[in-house]
Amino acid sequence: MTDLVVRRLLIDLETPFPARWNGGDAFSSAFFNALSMSFPSGEQYFIDSVRAGLKALPQDRRDAMAQEIKGFIGQEATHRRIHELFNAQLARLGYDNEIERRTEARRKAHEADDLRNKVAATAATEHFTAIFANWLLHHPEVMQHAEPRLRTLWQWHSAEESEHRDTAFDMYQALGASHTWRVRVFRYISFVFLHDVLRQTLRNLWHDGSLFQWRTWRSAWRLLLAQDGMIRGNIRQWRDYQAPDFHPSQHAAELAQPWLRDNADQFTVVGQHA
Ligand SMILES: [Fe+2]
Ligand SMILES: [Fe+2]
Repeated sequence: MTDLVVRRLLIDLETPFPARWNGGDAFSSAFFNALSMSFPSGEQYFIDSVRAGLKALPQDRRDAMAQEIKGFIGQEATHRRIHELFNAQLARLGYDNEIERRTEARRKAHEADDLRNKVAATAATEHFTAIFANWLLHHPEVMQHAEPRLRTLWQWHSAEESEHRDTAFDMYQALGASHTWRVRVFRYISFVFLHDVLRQTLRNLWHDGSLFQWRTWRSAWRLLLAQDGMIRGNIRQWRDYQAPDFHPSQHAAELAQPWLRDNADQFTVVGQHA
């Protein structure tokens, strides 16, 4: 069982920031803005599915997982609130959050699905957040020139995603996992998640006026597709999820706790389990 602490981040998200908050770089700002736009509705979905999962467990399993699920829900609810504030700034700058509408429409279309598949979709998306989070903590240079409060926001979120990377997966196992369905849902989520985030990134770049600039795509290559880039550098980790004996704890997350320790002045602990 993982002991998950809920932290309240002490950063100012009321003071406006420019859309190209990441050192003036159009592509990386647009890409992270797209991720942020996907979070509030996505994280609400994670919360709802693990909460329903917990209710569906037999009493002894429920007791064993209750504390961890409470911590997971607390962390995701905090992320959701913070990213809502972040997204409100983007909305003030005229950015249209299409990804949220797409996520909501998809959620409605899959409303009647088997609960196990909803938890599998949560575990699959959490695998993406975990590998991206670990990558971001390993590549602080990506946000070297970002507004410090926003760099803190992304690194804090990354540290907590690394920290709770097992939770949704363990819930899926507890509900009676099927390897075939786990992989099937993972492939579907991989397509949908990357497609929607890239589509929102393009919309953001269009609004920013930098969609057709050469340096935008040079930055895209560096961030995502270079040898150690966020996508190309994580292909092995992506593939690992499909192994029958995969568990998220097999992947490194060794930078999360040091980051949380070294940046303890950036948050207050609001919930901690004994
Ligand atoms: Fe999160
Ligand atoms: Fe998460």
